[in-house]
Amino acid sequence: PDFRQRRAIAWWLRWRAMAMSEIGSVIAGAVGKQIVGMLGDYAASEVTLQWRYREEVLEMEETMKDLEAVLSDADDKSRRGGDGGRVFQRWLTKFKRAAYDVEDVLDELDANDLINKSQSKVSLWFSRNNQLLQRITMPHKMKKVMMKIDQVEKEGRRRLNLVPQQARGEGSRNNEIPAVHYGDGVKTGMVGRGIEKDKIISLLLTTEETNQQDISIIPVVGLGGIGKTTLAESVLADKRVSVFDVAIWVNVSKQFDLHKIGGAILKRMMNSTINLDNSDLQLHLKKELATRRYLIVLDDLWEEDGNNLERLKEMLQHGRKGSSIIVTTRSRSVVQQLRTGFLANQRKICPVPESDIIDLGVLEPGDCWELIKQRAFGSDDDHSGLEEIGKQIAGKCGGLPLVANALGQVMSELRTVGAWEDIRDTKVDLGLREAHQEEALERLMVSYYYMKIEFKMCFTYLAAFPKGFVMHINHIIQQWNALGYISSRHDGQRCINYLLGMSFLRIPGSASVSPSPLHFGVPPKLVMHDLVHDLASIIAADELVDLDATKSTSWNRARYCRHAQLTNFKNDPEIFKYIPGKLRSLHFRDLGGLQLPKKAFSRSKFIRVLDLSGHSAKGQPAPSGVVLPSSINQLKLIRYIDAAGLPIKSLPKNFHVLQNMETLILSNSMLETFPDSICRLSKLCYLDLSGSSSLNKMPASLGDLT
Ligand SMILES: Nc1ncnc2c1ncn2[C@@H]1O[C@H](COP(=O)(O)OP(=O)(O)OP(=O)(O)O)[C@@H](O)[C@H]1O
Ligand SMILES: [Mg+2]
Repeated sequence: PDFRQRRAIAWWLRWRAMAMSEIGSVIAGAVGKQIVGMLGDYAASEVTLQWRYREEVLEMEETMKDLEAVLSDADDKSRRGGDGGRVFQRWLTKFKRAAYDVEDVLDELDANDLINKSQSKVSLWFSRNNQLLQRITMPHKMKKVMMKIDQVEKEGRRRLNLVPQQARGEGSRNNEIPAVHYGDGVKTGMVGRGIEKDKIISLLLTTEETNQQDISIIPVVGLGGIGKTTLAESVLADKRVSVFDVAIWVNVSKQFDLHKIGGAILKRMMNSTINLDNSDLQLHLKKELATRRYLIVLDDLWEEDGNNLERLKEMLQHGRKGSSIIVTTRSRSVVQQLRTGFLANQRKICPVPESDIIDLGVLEPGDCWELIKQRAFGSDDDHSGLEEIGKQIAGKCGGLPLVANALGQVMSELRTVGAWEDIRDTKVDLGLREAHQEEALERLMVSYYYMKIEFKMCFTYLAAFPKGFVMHINHIIQQWNALGYISSRHDGQRCINYLLGMSFLRIPGSASVSPSPLHFGVPPKLVMHDLVHDLASIIAADELVDLDATKSTSWNRARYCRHAQLTNFKNDPEIFKYIPGKLRSLHFRDLGGLQLPKKAFSRSKFIRVLDLSGHSAKGQPAPSGVVLPSSINQLKLIRYIDAAGLPIKSLPKNFHVLQNMETLILSNSMLETFPDSICRLSKLCYLDLSGSSSLNKMPASLGDLT
């Protein structure tokens, strides 16, 4: 990595380390809630009766309930800061870990039962043996977790004097998520920014006559979350810009990739994807652009390297006179760099004069209140009693629309004077002195505190994806389900709507200004705003680890991590020794279809979500004929496997022992056969084989799956 990247990484690690000790505990309440619910179900289930664990489970449920009752006391005290606060933070972290362990043991118990029931006579010996072993090991494991939670309980009660309280805010919460209709342009429309929008449009329309340059670049500069993208979207959706022959949106983001940018533009112009090498792409672009007056939005440009920017301009210089490019960026030096170079000096393609740059400032408090109102109240709700406090809260949004939206959404469910006063008076000190936009993060954290507790885990889990990652809505819901965060698809959809309402998620493209209702027939994609990703990463800091296979320094510190991303894997099996034993989800990025070692998963028996998807990196030939590591069969708890694009020809023998499997994505694989035994996966409810064209025979009994 270059210097800039290294600095960013160093900063990030420091930040993470700090964040980990300070705030990793805020998620404890959500974990507790999930596990108490689960214990209730278990106590009533047949499994516990059969294995004579009912007493134990009931006892655990009682202890966990007692613990849950004192959580908000611990939470309040932990936020006092200083050494006093840290004691409580540590306790919350211990509680969280113990709760996770409880869940793991119960899940294992359940999985054993499922497997035993499904064993055929052929493997009877094996299964008997297995059962015998379980009879010895499971009671031991049960005892261990019971001791752990007892200890946590004792410490909380005796040493820390925690007192039971009603969970904050939950008491006065309205149950239904208010009907925020995404796509209803009125409710989620842009507020303010009229002047800036008109200015951009007049710049777009006048450049043809004034003729200072052939193609003008209009920079929109401002802090993250201030509304640059939203503003650009609203310009693109305005009727007045229909004078352009073509309007194209390109997400540039941190990784500057000229080929990708060119490809995205060409794709829009030709309405199809074609795979071209670089020189062909340039030729095609030249041909397509030459006859048109274009408007291109380059959203989120970070590249500051003059040479790279010059090549970008070269690529785009062929449009007709009067073509325009809107560039949104957080960085002023990007704009400065765009002014330099040959093409800019020639006035072929150049930013508008300094005075015409759109420098986006914070929103007025009145506009923030408007945003909050849109979300917090229905059209004929009476808000007289709350208006005053609401305006005070609006004043604390720091002029960031992102914060106003997030608060507005959580406030909509807590519509009492007391609850709003609480929100107004909540202060968060993340202690991240070096973090960029620390204040914005602290304000966002307030909305996290008050968000619906049942969706907190869903939200923080999304930090396991890279920044700017385009998430597939179905896959997200399936993963949440596999991890036990939600219990139905419907809950998943509610959660996504809720997060969209908070502006914590967005539908890429122009969803926020040009209405396109969210319907689940055609699964849309979702992205998370950068700042929101930072927030989720802070909250989940001690649960997440990024393992870089090429950097052994990133391999430690992972013992208690529950989610991991593994990047840069290049055949070195060493890394698998460092995969945390209690991992629940493992995501390979850029795996490129490489063969994983046989024992890859033999150390992490609690994996529920495994993402092996990912096509080979650019320039690498796709390897052929890899096999899934046999240790995959040891993942008793696994519910979700995504192996899209992995060149496997078959599934491992005995794959059907993975009785918890719910989602199996094997699209674009090289599968030739598909074992009959797959039909014994009794919980399988989503199987994707699209694009696996080598498959010539399907098991006859596939129809038996329910
Ligand atoms: N004027 C506005 N009215 C209503 N909502 C807004 C407005 N501006 C921004 N938002 C909301 O705030 C969120 C963040 O805004 P946006 O993504 O446009 O910020 P940005 O400046 O592009 O940030 P970044 O630099 O990270 O790309 C959006 O998802 C949108 O919902
Ligand atoms: Mg943006």
